Amino acid sequence: MTTLRLPGLVDVHVHTRDPGQTHKETWASATAAALAGGFTTVLAMPNTRPAVTDATTLATALEAARTGARCDYALYLGGTATNGTAAAALAPRTAGMKLYLNHTFGDLRLPDLDTWWAHLAAWPAAPPLVVHAEGPALAAVLLMAEWLDRPIHICHVSRADEIRLIARARHRGIAVTCEVAPHHLFLDETALARLGRRGEVRPVLADPSDRAALWEHLDVIDCFATDHAPHTSAEKDGDDPPPGFPGLETALPLLLTAVHDGSLTLEGLVGRLSTNPRRIFGLPKSDAVVEVDPDEEWTIAAADLQTACDWTPFEGRVVRGRVHRVEVRGTTVYADGKVLAMTGSGNHLREDHT
Ligand code: DOR
Ligand code: ZN
Ligand code: ZN
Repeated sequence: MTTLRLPGLVDVHVHTRDPGQTHKETWASATAAALAGGFTTVLAMPNTRPAVTDATTLATALEAARTGARCDYALYLGGTATNGTAAAALAPRTAGMKLYLNHTFGDLRLPDLDTWWAHLAAWPAAPPLVVHAEGPALAAVLLMAEWLDRPIHICHVSRADEIRLIARARHRGIAVTCEVAPHHLFLDETALARLGRRGEVRPVLADPSDRAALWEHLDVIDCFATDHAPHTSAEKDGDDPPPGFPGLETALPLLLTAVHDGSLTLEGLVGRLSTNPRRIFGLPKSDAVVEVDPDEEWTIAAADLQTACDWTPFEGRVVRGRVHRVEVRGTTVYADGKVLAMTGSGNHLREDHT
């Protein structure tokens, strides 16, 4: 067996569902999945119940994380129509500010251009302001970022015109960074025949030419982020399937398979899953180590995963590369299918005033 030692990976885009929808996932199960997938730090999205939008809801969500997390973490604040100034005051305690400019799961979508502007104007340069912005919304928010001379991070870029626009913005000197989710790199709308309603996700699975464009513009992609968005199979198979895929345990094996196939370098993988996320989000150095066997071939099966989500869009997919052991602060936290880290052992990576 070959053993490759990678640094602890960082997932800047995770939905833990805790508090509020713990039948889908909890801090304990999400971070067990994170460790099994080689991620030793997760940044959690604010569309929980209640949504994390002020000091009170941040404290509630931080308490759930403090008692449940098995890996290191920080939490995003969500932008609302009215919290621009108050949210900015909480910035040092957060992973960043998340703005929903398009329709998605939950009710955090911002109503109009004025509210986008208010947040872009009020939020400091760091930690990052991140946006769910597709199509024309992406163009509008890039323009605002340029006018306000502020950095901006684009979540889950999925289409050819979007990645090209980001390349153009960067060429113009706009301080834009971006992430792409593995499901947009490894799946496209041709998978919908197999996935049916379970294939609902935002942004949607795109055209094969969009998927190809993401691979052609790897140099524009700063981070790979899972957008781990668990919903139960019963919910996905229901009348109104919520959008989202689990992804924490399949990202690294899929990307290691791409390294094996020659479509990605190992250096490019580590940069986008560890070095760049740490730099962009101002995260502390870590001694975490992930040991993988890059040659081991195995078949993805939901039944073997740590997430509480009982399905995966990659069921039956053969991948090459498997996590065998994860070490954090000198302690083995995951070994060969077993999560050893206790709940509550993860560190909060931002200022704590609680
Ligand atoms: O598919 C998605 N699911 N896209 C989002 O933007 C939100 C996420 C969720 O929270 O389920
Ligand atoms: Zn989103
Ligand atoms: Zn998301």
